[in-house]
Amino acid sequence: MSLVRLEGVAKHVLLPDDTRLEILRGIDLAVAAGDHVAIVGRSGSGKSTLLNLLGMLDTPSEGAVWFRGEPVRRMRRGRLDRLRGRNVGFVFQQFNLLAGRTALENVEMPLGYAGGRAFWTRRRAATEMLERVGLGHRIDSTPEQMSGGEQQRVAIARALVRRPALILADEPTGALDVETGGTVMELLDDIASEADAALVTITHDLHVAARARRHFRLEAGVLTPFDLTGAGAPGGDPSGVVVAPELAASVDEPGPAAADPGPPAADPDQPAVDPDQPTAGRDRHPAPAPRPDAADEREAAEVAS
Ligand SMILES: Nc1ncnc2c1ncn2[C@@H]1O[C@H](COP(=O)(O)OP(=O)(O)O)[C@@H](O)[C@H]1O
Ligand SMILES: [Mg+2]
Repeated sequence: MSLVRLEGVAKHVLLPDDTRLEILRGIDLAVAAGDHVAIVGRSGSGKSTLLNLLGMLDTPSEGAVWFRGEPVRRMRRGRLDRLRGRNVGFVFQQFNLLAGRTALENVEMPLGYAGGRAFWTRRRAATEMLERVGLGHRIDSTPEQMSGGEQQRVAIARALVRRPALILADEPTGALDVETGGTVMELLDDIASEADAALVTITHDLHVAARARRHFRLEAGVLTPFDLTGAGAPGGDPSGVVVAPELAASVDEPGPAAADPGPPAADPDQPAVDPDQPTAGRDRHPAPAPRPDAADEREAAEVAS
């Protein structure tokens, strides 16, 4: 069974002048445990919108999202929030770390929302995760005292500290130099495969894309599978990738300047926002519409079982 599945998903928004902006159209995508999917596309092609739908931060205008075989639209808000908090880890281009807080505080933050043992052992879990990303010696440093690569590693530790089944990375190397980006991706890849987590990476960088098992390109809201055959046999050296011309045509010019600015930094004063999910694109994406309370919890429970 797939972990998360989009079926016939479309997303459109009504602009202030009453015209309808079609952001995504007819998206079918299933991601299973242990899978690594890369999605490439130009800035504005709908990549972040798609990632927010996969992470159940946003709801589709048409079509359905399924998580472990259960239709997400049937879930009540509280349950959906818990499910997301427990199972989805987001990594963003701009890291979204809390300024003025130490690496340890940043990483243990998501566990502050966890219950039981995970809550009481959060400090140890966060320390271990920081050691895992090679920052055991920097647990008391704040983001301001760290390099971009270090900050992104803290962000990865924060995204993974709850051992999410689904890791969603939105241009995780967009703010890093090529070499640091490579190290960060390798780490993300390693930790994801150790835990048999599904990893979806959105990227402008074809070398980053080449690390994935499956490739898609997003163009004007339409998702098309892509065979990165030029990269050679599976497991081949990603740096030896020969970029297929069609794929090269579907990404922007390389370099961080091509990337969109990403979501705003998480605000520590914002209540009720799970910091491991700093509501990507909060500036542009409206909060998901409140679910009609008609949704019958018993029915949802049956679907879940
Ligand atoms: N809530 C929204 N209201 C209006 N336009 C939006 C909204 N969300 C996204 N868009 C627009 O949809 C397009 C796709 O956005 P996005 O998913 O952020 O693209 P990408 O991540 O590929 O750069 C962009 O043109 C963006 O401005
Ligand atoms: Mg984006």
